[in-house]
Order: sequence, then structure tokens, then C-alpha cells
Amino acid sequence: VNHLLGIKYLTSDDIDLIFETADQFKEVINRPIKKVPSLRDITVANLFFENSTRTKLSFELAEKRLSADIINFSAAQSSVKKGETLIDTVNNILSMKVDMVVMRHPNPGACVFLSKHISATIINAGDGAHEHPTQALLDSYSIKEKLGTVNGKKVVIVGDILHSRVALSNIYALQKQGAEVMVCGPKTLLPKYISSLGVQVETNLLKALNWCDVANMLRVQNERMEVNYFPSTREYAQQYGVSREILNKLDKEIVIMHPGPINRGVEITSDVADSQHSIILNQVENGVAVRMAVIYLLASKIKH
Ligand code: CP
Repeated sequence: VNHLLGIKYLTSDDIDLIFETADQFKEVINRPIKKVPSLRDITVANLFFENSTRTKLSFELAEKRLSADIINFSAAQSSVKKGETLIDTVNNILSMKVDMVVMRHPNPGACVFLSKHISATIINAGDGAHEHPTQALLDSYSIKEKLGTVNGKKVVIVGDILHSRVALSNIYALQKQGAEVMVCGPKTLLPKYISSLGVQVETNLLKALNWCDVANMLRVQNERMEVNYFPSTREYAQQYGVSREILNKLDKEIVIMHPGPINRGVEITSDVADSQHSIILNQVENGVAVRMAVIYLLASKIKH
């Protein structure tokens, strides 16, 4: 594997290797000196054609902790605004002797497309509603850290499955590690093909939460909706928002996750997001070690 385009293309052994490597990097970044010299000969370009806080900063920090040289590109301040194409943009950046590209793009398949046209290693940092592989890896890593294993665990992904790259990557990652996966949301936000992925489908949140060990709450992606898919934000919050009230109805404790950014009071209330059930900030913390592992393993295949 010379790129990370999606979890779809990984084996469970690949995932195990990434996690074992991330364990070592997690130890490193908890030391007073958080840097290793591993990637002194590697230059990485972070290309963000869509907004990001966590993924962008986490990749940048991961690269810096590995001692790589980095350049950051944000489409909003670039010559993309003057009409330059994706391939021209990337080829111009690569001519500056860049080895690896981390790219977020609004179009599904943009990273796969690019991988067919350029020679550099590509890491998908989220492409439209397609995949967000490093998010799924850090999510599974965080479940493993909290519960000891992913194998055999029941994970429900709740909310806007239709527009979610996090959902698709998580489904692939969790299934490859032997978890049972359910999706839960209003019918209007569940894609028609979802059952073909081998997941259980539930429209009742209480039933889904009673079934699971882990609930991954997704953000409603209003920016990707052409029409108003659900009657109202208020109704969504009432029927699909996780709150202290609904958690009190369960006869067990469950782990609550969220990839961020959170719409507080919509898919999750603050008292749950900030509670001991939530591992949201652990997910963000683990993102750096997991991304260090991905970059390190892919960089080992680059021939200078
Ligand atoms: N989880 C995630 O991808 O967040 P950002 O959009 O802020 O990167």
C-alpha cells in the first residue's frame, strides 16, 4: 500500500500494524521531548480544499513530531480561486520536491483520482461524503484503548449517515476488526445502499443505544444538503440527540464518541459531551499518534 485513500483498501493486518506503531508514538509524544528524527528527509504538503480544524492541525503536528518538512495550502487563499485545476495545483507543488500529499477535498473520489495522476504518496484527509480514513482509524484506536478491543463490540453510528465520510470509513474499519455495526438515524439521512454494507439499520435511538457498547454521534451536515432533509433541527435534537435523560433510561453505561465539530444541543447535549462517558477529546489526542503512524509507515516506502 503506497497511499491511504480509504479504509476499504486496508486489511485487518494493516490496521493492527498502524495501531502497534501508534502505541509507540503515543508513548513518544507523552515524553518531555515529543519529537523523533524519523522523517528528516521527507517533505509533506497539506492541501486543504475544505475547512478543517482537527484533521489539519493534527496532521501538521504529527508531521512536526516526526521532523518532516511541511508546507500548508488552503484553497481559499490560493490560485484555485483564479481557476487553477487540481492536477495543475498539485503538480506545481510537487515540482518543489514534495514526497507526500495530505489532501482534504469536497469531491468524493478526489484522492483516488489524484493517485492516478501523480507520483507522490497520498493520504486522504476526507473526500466529500466518501471516506475519512484517519478519522476511522483514530476512532477504532480510541475504542480499543477504552474497551481493550474492537473485536466483538457493538458500535452504533448515529445521525447523518447519508453525507458522512466518517460513517463509511468507520463501517469498513469496525467490520475489518470484528465489531458489529449498526447505523441509526431518520430514514431521510440513511443512504439506500446502507444495508448492502452488512450493517444493522435502526430508526429508534433508544433501541439503538440499548443495543450498543459504543455510540458514535455524527454532526448533521447542513452544508452538504441541497434540500432540508429533516423537518427541523429541533425535531432532530428531540429524536436523535443523545442527552443525559436518554442515557438514564439505559440499564448499562455506554461509551460516547463524536468526530467533531459538535453541534451542541443538536446531536449531543453538553452534559453528555463533557461527561465521563465521552471520549471525544481522547479521540482528538489519539489522532496525532495515529496520523504519525500512518505517515511513518507510508514514508518508509518512499524511495529517494
Ligand atoms: N473530525 C474532523 O474531520 O474534524 P475537522 O473537520 O475539524 O477536521
